[in-house]
Amino acid sequence: MKFDLEHTSQRETYNLLIGLVAPRPIALVTSMNEQGHLNAAPFSAYNYLCTDPPVVGIGVTNRPSSTFVPKDTARNIRRTGEFVVNVVTEDIAQRMNICATDFPAETNEIEMANFTTVPSDVVKVPRIAEAHAALECREFTTMEIGRSRIILGRVVSIYVEDKFIDPAGPYIRAEELHAIGRMNGLGSYVRTRDAFLTMPRISYDEWQKGKR
Ligand SMILES: Cc1cc2nc3c(=O)[nH]c(=O)nc-3n(C[C@H](O)[C@H](O)[C@H](O)COP(=O)(O)O)c2cc1C
Repeated sequence: MKFDLEHTSQRETYNLLIGLVAPRPIALVTSMNEQGHLNAAPFSAYNYLCTDPPVVGIGVTNRPSSTFVPKDTARNIRRTGEFVVNVVTEDIAQRMNICATDFPAETNEIEMANFTTVPSDVVKVPRIAEAHAALECREFTTMEIGRSRIILGRVVSIYVEDKFIDPAGPYIRAEELHAIGRMNGLGSYVRTRDAFLTMPRISYDEWQKGKR
């Protein structure tokens, strides 16, 4: 099938793109409003975009409405300029999903999901204690594009539980971290446990010598 996106509804476009740009890492973003009220929500329109400077990007769609209603995460980041990306692994997947529930505004998703928080090192927004790794970020810029906001955050500090660091690199012991990825909008995810495929890059020298 072919889909001309000029004649495809927003919902269909969403379904197609999130099923094809997959698997996606999941950022469980903690952010705070001006009164210090803490918020947590997952976003899979997420990746690192460059490392010099270290920048991550998150796509946040506005809430469906005839008016312009940003999600709490996007509003908080615009107003207070800071957030933390908590890395989502298999052991906290169910609780991450609870944070995506549309609770009434006064409900604290972090408590509902039975998460606790610990202070971050550089930013005011705390990280989730149960996450094994977290990126502390300061808003670099927010682009408003149609019904969405693309938030670029400069990573200012990284926390990784010691057992997941190979000090030689330092490298992340990704085979042991068990991060999960999102596959589509139907609640499908992938595990990374026992799923690794090792494929080093081929140098031009090796290529010329016929090593494939
Ligand atoms: C795994 C997962 C990934 C999600 N990714 C996104 C995303 O990339 N962009 C988005 O706008 N909403 C995404 N959502 C929906 C938000 O998490 C949801 O709208 C949440 O209630 C927003 O909370 P907030 O208003 O506290 O920011 C995702 C939900 C789940 C479960």
